[in-house]
Amino acid sequence: MKRRSKTSLLLALLAAAFLAVPALGQQDMTTVPAEGFAAKTRQPARFAHDAHNEKAGLSDCTTCHHGEKDGKKDPTADTSGVPCSDCHTAAAKSGRTPLMRAYHKQCMGCHLAQKKGPVTCGDCHEPVK
Ligand code: HEC
Ligand code: HEC
Ligand code: HEC
Ligand code: HEC
Repeated sequence: MKRRSKTSLLLALLAAAFLAVPALGQQDMTTVPAEGFAAKTRQPARFAHDAHNEKAGLSDCTTCHHGEKDGKKDPTADTSGVPCSDCHTAAAKSGRTPLMRAYHKQCMGCHLAQKKGPVTCGDCHEPVK
């Protein structure tokens, strides 16, 4: 009896640990994921998702997470959680914005327009402190 309850406790702990792992989300993000790139030459860009958006006053998710309609950008569709690389591939397809340019245009574009936020290579591609 005693042994059995120990085993079930162990199983319950294992199950809890297993369930806790995939729960990582944008709130835990410290850098922009770089999975879409075959070869990485830079430090991943630092980007604390939620803290960044709060500081920058970005409450509308579609500011970054837009969608697609008839091969064009659909600024009203909310694609939060869909990786950019699902639609923007590392290698350029004709008429399409490749992945690195998509990030640089979106991130730097806003920083330049608002005159706030980093715009030099080393300011984004640096280890998270
Ligand atoms: C300043 C741009 C920006 C804004 C605004 C933004 N996000 Fe994101 N978000 C990103 C980037 C960049 C990624 C990483 C994309 C990738 O992996 O291709 C991301 C990833 C995510 C992910 C996936 C997390 C993971 O761990 O894979 C979720 C979920 C998400 N965002 C939800 C939201 C929600 C909800 C909002 C609005 C409340 C929002 N985002 C607003 C830029 C933004
Ligand atoms: C559901 C598909 C889809 C997703 C997901 C998506 N995009 Fe796009 N995006 C498009 C389409 C379609 C266009 C227009 C054609 C093109 O330029 O490739 C576009 C255009 C762009 C452009 C050029 C136009 C402009 O606004 O300056 C940038 C930059 C961009 N996307 C960045 C991003 C980033 C960064 C992410 C992830 C946070 C992202 N996109 C997620 C489909 C998508
Ligand atoms: C729509 C506008 C907008 C977009 C898009 C945007 N940013 Fe920013 N970002 C800002 C603003 C505004 C600030 C300055 C916030 C402040 O400190 O007041 C900022 C600040 C930052 C900082 C400095 C914050 C710190 O804690 O040191 C980093 C790093 C940064 N952005 C990275 C990114 C990356 C990477 C992306 C693209 C995935 C991105 N940003 C997209 C508006 C934007
Ligand atoms: C506003 C932030 C920002 C600035 C400024 C910036 N980048 Fe990026 N860069 C990104 C993001 C976000 C990605 C997508 C993946 C990642 O996290 O590295 C990226 C991806 C890249 C990649 C492809 C992935 C890799 O590691 O090979 C290269 C190369 C790159 N950047 C070079 C540069 C260079 C060179 C400069 C200066 C001219 C620069 N970047 C400035 C945010 C930035």
